Amino acid sequence: MPTATGSGQDVSRALPVKLACRNLWKVFGPDAAGFLARQSGKASLTDLAEAHLVGAVRDASLTVQEGEIFIIMGLSGSGKSTLLRCLSRLVEPTTGVVELDGRDLLKASRSEMIELRRHKMGMVLETFVLLPPLTVLQNIAFPLAVQGVGRAQRLARAEEMVQLVGLSGREGFYPRSLSGGQQQRVGIARSLATKPELWFLDEPFSALDPLIRREMQAELLRLQEALRKTIVFITHDFDEAIRLADRIAIMKDGEIIQTGTPEDLVTNPATDYVAEFTREVQRAKVLSAGRLMQPLGGSADFAGAVESDAKVASFAAAIIGAGRPFAVVDGAGVAVGAVTPQAVVAVLAGVDGPGTVA
Ligand SMILES: Nc1ncnc2c1ncn2[C@@H]1O[C@H](COP(=O)(O)OP(=O)(O)OP(=O)(O)O)[C@@H](O)[C@H]1O
Ligand SMILES: [Mg+2]
Repeated sequence: MPTATGSGQDVSRALPVKLACRNLWKVFGPDAAGFLARQSGKASLTDLAEAHLVGAVRDASLTVQEGEIFIIMGLSGSGKSTLLRCLSRLVEPTTGVVELDGRDLLKASRSEMIELRRHKMGMVLETFVLLPPLTVLQNIAFPLAVQGVGRAQRLARAEEMVQLVGLSGREGFYPRSLSGGQQQRVGIARSLATKPELWFLDEPFSALDPLIRREMQAELLRLQEALRKTIVFITHDFDEAIRLADRIAIMKDGEIIQTGTPEDLVTNPATDYVAEFTREVQRAKVLSAGRLMQPLGGSADFAGAVESDAKVASFAAAIIGAGRPFAVVDGAGVAVGAVTPQAVVAVLAGVDGPGTVA
């Protein structure tokens, strides 16, 4: 099971696929589809540049499981927003497949798409706009009004959302009298009002200062604990990604370079570009006891036990204080290995090296 604390467990086998895309391309420019067809669906950056086309998303494939927080990362211009918009068909993909609950989204009619977006999808886009003449409560209730939900019912629902995002007491405020962080919360509450199954968040916290940003991350995790949405979340910030993610996809020049748990990306980066992204990460927050453990051996002189998915940071002080190994146990409590204080110190000191056990 994925956890809202971003445990980074691989959920790919465990849960049904909610959303998927395969070989998805978005090329901007005249006759992009014809160009791709002539190229047999393959085009390098150079091919595209020579044809004066922009390959915003190139041959992207991903699957997002139900209840997962799936993060898309990459430098500015790498295609994150375009990919996200293709997944909801706010931007029409040039070629490829997008599936929602196994259904081919690119075959849906315009009106079916509008219905799907209204009822199944919630979105907080990079440039989200609150409606200035409407109060906080009315802004949040707005998508329900669009759905045709009655006034009493939509205001009651909006009030629930106000409480969820911690804005109680500000229902009657207008957007202009809210701080940036409060406005973000209204945007988030509004996107959740319709109880979407799929929640798209494009850098929802990037405009916030670090303190509010951390609060909002905690709030997102708290919301996810309660609501269990399937979330696709874009961020530039790897620390934010590892805090929130079940899995992360890293994009470069329109391509998905690697998809994996935060731990996968840190321990086995597929390219130098991925390694660069993960370089500043506090490894103790990402690496788990299971990754560090050694075979049990003969000795059973353990000072304690940790679950194999426990992050090093969560037991570092205890094991170093004890000065003796801990048993690493599986979900059933059976010892499957041992982790030593030395291995933990090596991680804390950043001298364990990618993929190695100290
Ligand atoms: N409507 C458009 N027409 C032409 N090119 C576009 C269009 N929209 C996006 N692009 C180009 O596609 C590429 C990817 O843009 P996109 O907005 O997806 O990047 P991003 O990863 O979200 O960047 P950022 O982190 O800055 O938000 C960029 O080179 C951009 O200039
Ligand atoms: Mg963007």
